Amino acid sequence: MTDGSRLMSLGETFSPFDAHLTDPYPFYGVARREEPVFYSPQFDIWCVTRYDDIVQILRDPVTFSSRDTIPHHVFPPEVTAALADYRFPTHLINADPPEHSRLRAIMNQGFNPAAVEAIASTVVSSANSLIDSFFDDGEADLFGQFAYPLPLRVILRVLGVPDADLQQCRTWSENLDAIFWGWATATTDHLVECARGLVAFQRYTESLVADRAAVARDDLISRVLHAGLRDFAALTHEEVVDLVPGLIIAGHQTTADLIGNTVSALLADAPTMRKACEGSISLQDIVEEGLRYDSSILGMPRTATTDVEIAGTSIPAGGKLFLLFGSANHDEKHYVQPDRFLPGNEHRSPHLAFGKGIHFCIGAALARLEGRIALELILQRLSGLRASGPVAPRTPNMIFRGFSRLNVQWDIT
Ligand code: HEM
Repeated sequence: MTDGSRLMSLGETFSPFDAHLTDPYPFYGVARREEPVFYSPQFDIWCVTRYDDIVQILRDPVTFSSRDTIPHHVFPPEVTAALADYRFPTHLINADPPEHSRLRAIMNQGFNPAAVEAIASTVVSSANSLIDSFFDDGEADLFGQFAYPLPLRVILRVLGVPDADLQQCRTWSENLDAIFWGWATATTDHLVECARGLVAFQRYTESLVADRAAVARDDLISRVLHAGLRDFAALTHEEVVDLVPGLIIAGHQTTADLIGNTVSALLADAPTMRKACEGSISLQDIVEEGLRYDSSILGMPRTATTDVEIAGTSIPAGGKLFLLFGSANHDEKHYVQPDRFLPGNEHRSPHLAFGKGIHFCIGAALARLEGRIALELILQRLSGLRASGPVAPRTPNMIFRGFSRLNVQWDIT
């Protein structure tokens, strides 16, 4: 058995915001081999890197709670003051059973297969209209002009948020992301601005929910507000208000990064790009390999509810864990040539990009649908697609792995 003080060496070099931002996978490989569970003193977290250990944790939500998944940071006083009117939300993602079981059962009604299929035409028309808006330029920032706005537009439509509020929701989503997961590189002034955005986002959501409570419409907010399940009490207005901003974030940032990371992997690999354009590898295989090879969610937190041992390392009760899905997805015990992007490769295990167990991503089917349609239209319409200029830096973030932009060119003849 080992303890935290003897595991400091690898943990001290864990640098998700700088040294490991561009390519964290070699570092994860060292960790899986040498210190599969290591302690990061900078973040006060125990990072878990092997597939099997992560799966075991995901299967046991009693020992490994999700209560701190939306983190409570200690901010400078100016930021705390700006957050005075903010109600810290309870969402699916930071709820444990039995509370989670009730929220999930009600939300599942909104994300059933029929509901997702019904969104397909919105995804196709939104994707086409975005490509129309820049096609004649022959070049674009495919992340900022397509990958990001597409899933944002889709999730806002699903929820029933007016298109006119898209830009505002984008800014508030960025504010929320910066406060909870991008705080380490943000200035206090910026965090104060983000904190004000969070409060405004909550006020805005309250008005949306009040509107749907008065008159139900054909949207997800109305469906979950008015959902009736025999075994569970209906959601209160406050609970729905808490769910909406999280759904907007989870519903677009992740999928934007899926599209951006997968297109980037294709651009870096001419033979695979050629096969994708010819249709000799399926879009579904490309999306699945994109999810595995460069997961848009690097990791998710858990909290140990009791003293526990993982891979020979003792974690004290209350210890914060960080489950590195990005590392699990490159675990050589489960994947053949894990560090290569090989769509259609016969891997030994399914990827963990959407997690596993009771918190398995509720939007997985929607994300897969959006990824497939986005890739199909990009490959069909932007012929001769190629990178333009150097690869842009990754956005510094503890959870989300994606690009800040993706500059490309194509033929417009
Ligand atoms: C490529 C896109 C996506 C990825 C990689 C992704 C990844 C994940 C992961 C890893 C989890 C599990 C978190 C945990 O175990 O703590 C999760 C949960 C969740 N995701 Fe996604 N997600 C994606 C798209 C979406 C979309 C489109 C939506 C909504 C429309 C969504 C909504 C959620 C929600 C609400 C949860 C919490 C479920 C629960 O706790 O029961 N996600 N997602």
